[in-house]
Amino acid sequence: MGAFLKILILSISVAYIAVKWTGPSFDPASLKGAKVLVTGASSGIGEQMAYHYARFGAQIVITARREKVLQQVTEKCLSLGAQKALFIPADMSSESEPDKVIDFAVKKLGGLDYLVLNHIGVTRFAMWNGDVDHVRWLMKPNFFSYIQMAWRALPTLEQSKGSLVIVSSIAGKMSNPFAAPYTATKAALNGFFGSLTHELAMKKSNVSVSLCTLGFIDTESALNAVKGIITAPAYPASEASLNIIITGATRQPELFYPWFTYFMNLIKDWSPSLTNHLIRNSVNYNP
Ligand SMILES: NC(=O)c1ccc[n+]([C@@H]2O[C@H](COP(=O)([O-])OP(=O)(O)OC[C@H]3O[C@@H](n4cnc5c(N)ncnc54)[C@H](OP(=O)(O)O)[C@@H]3O)[C@@H](O)[C@H]2O)c1
Repeated sequence: MGAFLKILILSISVAYIAVKWTGPSFDPASLKGAKVLVTGASSGIGEQMAYHYARFGAQIVITARREKVLQQVTEKCLSLGAQKALFIPADMSSESEPDKVIDFAVKKLGGLDYLVLNHIGVTRFAMWNGDVDHVRWLMKPNFFSYIQMAWRALPTLEQSKGSLVIVSSIAGKMSNPFAAPYTATKAALNGFFGSLTHELAMKKSNVSVSLCTLGFIDTESALNAVKGIITAPAYPASEASLNIIITGATRQPELFYPWFTYFMNLIKDWSPSLTNHLIRNSVNYNP
């Protein structure tokens, strides 16, 4: 590695650490009694977020499609210390159910402090096969339901000086093979909520928007999806979830987890050919 590159990486690292150090500090007590809605909370990162919010003593509504699993998660939330834990089964590919979920949470909790949008529709980790209908469908749970729920919740979030937390992916910032439909939906989220963040700030809204960029996380669905194709280490869902919650609670506009996704995002524009080489060599593919 050349001296210039070493100095550049060192300078960026120092700047990153300085920014992290001087950022707002997290007060766990701020989440006691907080009114929270978490989507996609029957498994993976959403389930872990529900447990963290429960330990902080929040009042939680969770949603996903599988009613029995949601019931088990809410029972565990109550045993962990949640002030309230309720669930509502819903399919986010439906046009009407996203609104119903917001209305249910606002009614049952008497308002909302945090709307955490995290669910994703099922998609294959494979080369695109030309199935446009699948991309059109995936946009419904992964994108349209997010913007619909955010808009529906904005008035109540305004009342509580609340926060909108969007769980996105490094795939939405730098494209990866085998995930074209998923990548498209995450890029759409980044673009849309980036614009909305500007508009809310310009309108002097008191609602914060946090866009969370995650790398590879060790949820069962992600590990199964990439089995045999990606061998890179996955990072713990529990830690990823806690970082998302802290980002929302401290009203920070962005999270990059694990930390190096921040550098991956920076380097992709400075050195696209190196980035493309690394991406293509990180997957096992023998045509
Ligand atoms: N794991 C990773 O490596 C990784 C990396 C980057 C970003 N992320 C992001 O992190 C978030 C969570 O990922 P994860 O790995 O935790 O996923 P996961 O374990 O597969 O969980 C997905 C959740 O969405 C729900 N869901 C699926 N289809 C739905 C539908 N049509 N309507 C409503 N809910 C539905 C699932 O529950 P039901 O089946 O009960 O509906 C489940 O609760 C996603 O936004 C993902 O893009 C994950």
